[in-house]
Amino acid sequence: MNRSVLITGGAGFIGSHVVRHFVKKYPSYLVVNADKLTYAGNLQNLIDIEKSDNYRFERTDIVDETAVDELFEKYKFDGVIHLAAESHVDRSISAPREFVYTNIIGTVNLLNASRRIWTDTAGKVFYHISTDEVYGSLGPEGYFTENTPYDPRSPYSASKASSDHFVRAYFNTYHLPAVISNCSNNYGPNQFPEKLIPLAINNIKTGKKIPVYGKGHNIRDWLYVEDHARAIDIIFHRGVHGETYNIGGNNEWRNIDLINLLCELMDKKLGRKEGESAKLITYVKDRAGHDLRYSIDSTKINKELGWSPAHNFREGLSKTIDWYLNNEKWLLNVLSGDYEKYYEEQYLRR
Ligand code: NAD
Ligand code: DAU
Repeated sequence: MNRSVLITGGAGFIGSHVVRHFVKKYPSYLVVNADKLTYAGNLQNLIDIEKSDNYRFERTDIVDETAVDELFEKYKFDGVIHLAAESHVDRSISAPREFVYTNIIGTVNLLNASRRIWTDTAGKVFYHISTDEVYGSLGPEGYFTENTPYDPRSPYSASKASSDHFVRAYFNTYHLPAVISNCSNNYGPNQFPEKLIPLAINNIKTGKKIPVYGKGHNIRDWLYVEDHARAIDIIFHRGVHGETYNIGGNNEWRNIDLINLLCELMDKKLGRKEGESAKLITYVKDRAGHDLRYSIDSTKINKELGWSPAHNFREGLSKTIDWYLNNEKWLLNVLSGDYEKYYEEQYLRR
């Protein structure tokens, strides 16, 4: 193996696609997936590659400083791709502390461990995966660029913004070779069904109500997860240290329009009468502090690194629906934890 790469949060949604991408594409890299396996982490996501010679799994809590230091001593990583996080906005509203521990302290533990072992920084990189939510909320016009001032408005985005600042501070203060990307909403297989698209797919399938927060007029910019994994590969290898890259789908949808499209596609796939699934749409109390609109300007990564999204939204959604319909066991498994109780509590409060 000519390179040892740590991927944190590799058992989660995006992380599992990134791990698979690196394990398959770079057989000469040792890919180490360190994950605590919270409710959102699931090793079933990696069943197809888990026996690969160049893959290792380590169950590690990044908040545990000693465990992180031991991991770095064991593998002497020369690259880090940091995805592990508490990622769900609604959970951050009901219980913010875990977001501070994992997203901020966990990131600082990884930065410290990298700094300690990288006495020679040649060929090293700490790549921090972040979100467009750090930029706040847009009105009907405009886009987030890399120069948009930070304005996080939820406990989740505040914790991600803080971690981004720490990464930049380590680059500036200690010359730690670091790069950051801020991405828009991802969708695709293996996403935990608390997020809008898999939640709606699962509820449509099982005939449960589809909760639409507020009027459903909030807008998100959707990107297929494999397009994100490809962007991460490019930035890891060619991103300029100290720089930030925005990644987006150039694909804005109002929530209600997206849900109607899902209903239409699923009526066809499930052999239901047209309009049948849309009857499940239920308007519920809005998310506290709900950001109105996110939209990414991806010009920089497109012009400087040649990346653009490859997936068309209708096809990507169709593939995603098929995946959820064909992976009943996966769904039952991830839903068997604390999720149903959490969901009922959230939902009944509305
Ligand atoms: P996810 O919730 O699906 O997965 C997170 C993973 O991190 C899980 O496997 C979980 O077990 C692990 N984890 C959580 N706490 C941990 C800890 N203390 N120690 C070790 N592992 C821990 O999240 P995701 O949607 O795949 O997001 C991955 C990253 O990408 C996050 O940093 C998120 O902020 C960022 N991001 C996500 C999106 C999106 O649309 N999902 C968009 C932009 C950026
Ligand atoms: O923009 C990137 C971010 O996208 C990531 O950083 C986060 O980790 C990821 O969770 C996602 O955040 P959102 O809050 O945008 O995603 P979520 O799927 O929770 O919600 C999408 C939109 O749908 C949002 O406007 C809230 C709304 N919504 C969500 C749920 C779960 C509903 O109307 N009903 C729902 O049941």
